[in-house]
Parts: sequence; structure tokens; C-alpha cells
Amino acid sequence: MTDIPKKIGIIGVGHLISYLVPGMLRGEHQPDFLLSSRNRQTALTLAQNHNLEIAASNQALVEACEVIILSVRPGQVKDAIEGLPWRSGQLIISLCAGVSIGEISAHAQGVRITRALPVTAAKSGESPTAIYPQCDFTQKLLDPCGPTVVLEDENQFEAATMFGAYYGWVQHLIGEMAEWAQANDLSPETARLLACQMTRAAATTVRDTPEKPIAALVDELCLPGSITGLGLDRLKQEDAFKAWHQAGDDVLQNLKG
Ligand SMILES: NC(=O)c1ccc[n+]([C@@H]2O[C@H](COP(=O)([O-])OP(=O)(O)OC[C@H]3O[C@@H](n4cnc5c(N)ncnc54)[C@H](OP(=O)(O)O)[C@@H]3O)[C@@H](O)[C@H]2O)c1
Repeated sequence: MTDIPKKIGIIGVGHLISYLVPGMLRGEHQPDFLLSSRNRQTALTLAQNHNLEIAASNQALVEACEVIILSVRPGQVKDAIEGLPWRSGQLIISLCAGVSIGEISAHAQGVRITRALPVTAAKSGESPTAIYPQCDFTQKLLDPCGPTVVLEDENQFEAATMFGAYYGWVQHLIGEMAEWAQANDLSPETARLLACQMTRAAATTVRDTPEKPIAALVDELCLPGSITGLGLDRLKQEDAFKAWHQAGDDVLQNLKG
């Protein structure tokens, strides 16, 4: 299945989906999403803004769709999918962090399952989306949301999922540095813009210079007496990066737990 079917069901219309639907609709294919009705206000807003339908029930949604995006919270998966009229040939695209293919297939026998991990930047076409296993259809559907990255096994997919959390940590860091700049006389607007754009500039340089190791790029900025070197030495002295590695370990342990 590579062509995007007309109707794609979504079970779990919450925070992520309110960003992902506009992201998926950025593409040339315009799937017709059928939304689950729980969390009615978010479903109604999406339905009105994008001319979509809301299903009468999860059962009606599964009966009507060949492809179903599952986006409930991890602890809600069993209740959301158990006992629905699944049939072979259907595809579930699960966005549920830390929920394995085995756990999902236990409640939806015979259905093909792909996992994907977009983030809310999908709305701006800037979300990297980890996918496992490879699925042409899922890639095509999520490509308008940003670059898709296919992982080789589920273990790798869990490690890649950590970056979904990292996305939030970097936003926090941007907030911290914007606050620092405000405390040093910049207006809130200027502080926010500089913190955002400098973070984006750093990411773009690293992404677009794959021929150089990242450490070499940093070294080029840390010439003797440079302010970059001065600050980086302080961050290393304070073991600031060790805490980031530990945060990654905590998340991975939780995802595999
Ligand atoms: N938010 C993100 O940025 C993000 C990023 C990457 C991955 N994810 C993953 O995406 C999933 C959704 O996250 P979220 O932040 O969007 O959570 P959320 O805002 O809580 O959305 C989940 C939605 O599913 C609904 N739901 C629960 N059980 C249902 C059922 N049986 N039938 C239909 N709908 C049901 C919930 O309704 P109630 O509120 O009434 O329970 C809620 O509206 C999670 O598994 C998370 O790991 C999220």
C-alpha cells in the first residue's frame, strides 16, 4: 500500500494530533481524516478548520478505514483498541511512545503495525519523524511534516524516541537563555527571537556540514581567547553535559520499562 487512501481514521485526537493533521495536510495528497469523537472540542476545531468528519464511535471508524493513526496516551492503548472490528489488510500507525508493536498487536490481531514519532513542529513542516518498521505509505503520509528517518529495529526506534523528549528540553533551554538575555536588558521579543534563531542556526550548520565531525565544527568556534570557548569551558567544568546524557538514559529506561 503506497497510495494514500481517501479515508484515514485517527483514534486519540489530542495535543499531538492538533498539530499533526495540519502538517499532513501540507502535502499534495489531501487525505480525508475521520476523527474519533472523544475530546470533542479538539475534534470539532480540527473538523471545522479542515472540513473533516467525526466518527460516531471507534467501532464505526475502524469499519470505515484501512489505515488508522493511533495517538492515545500509552496507558490508554489497550482500552482504545481492544475489541474493535480489526481485519487483516489494515494498517495501524502508532504514535504512542514506548508502546511496542507486540503490545499493540496483542489487542489488534492480524493488523500491520508501524510506529512513528513526529513532534508538534509537524505543523510547520519541521518535525523529524522516526519510523519503524519501514512503510512507504507511512513515509508518504508524514513527509509533509518534515524529514522521515527509518530505523532498523525496535531497539533503535526507542533510542530515537528520546529525541521527542529532547525537543522539549531544547525549548526549555531556549527559554532559559531568553530569560538570561532579558535580565541583561534585551526586550522579551528580541531575546526570544535571538535565542530561537541562534538555536536554529546551530542545528542548520551541523545538519548541512556532514563531512565534518561535530567536534571539529565546535573547535573552529573555540579559538584561544574566544567567548565560545570561555563559556564552553564553564559548561564542562559544571558537568552540564553529563546531566543531558543522564536525562537520555532516564528516558530510554522509561521507554523500555
Ligand atoms: N504531544 C506530543 O508532542 C507527542 C509527541 C510525540 C509522541 N506523542 C505520543 O502521542 C500520543 C498522544 O499524545 P498527546 O500529547 O496528544 O496526548 P493527549 O493530548 O492526551 O491526546 C490523547 C487523546 O486520546 C484520547 N483518548 C483516550 N482514550 C481514547 C479512546 N478510547 N478513544 C478515543 N480517544 C481516546 C484522549 O482523550 P481524554 O483526554 O479524554 O483521555 C486524548 O484526547 C502519546 O502516546 C504520546 O506518547 C506525543
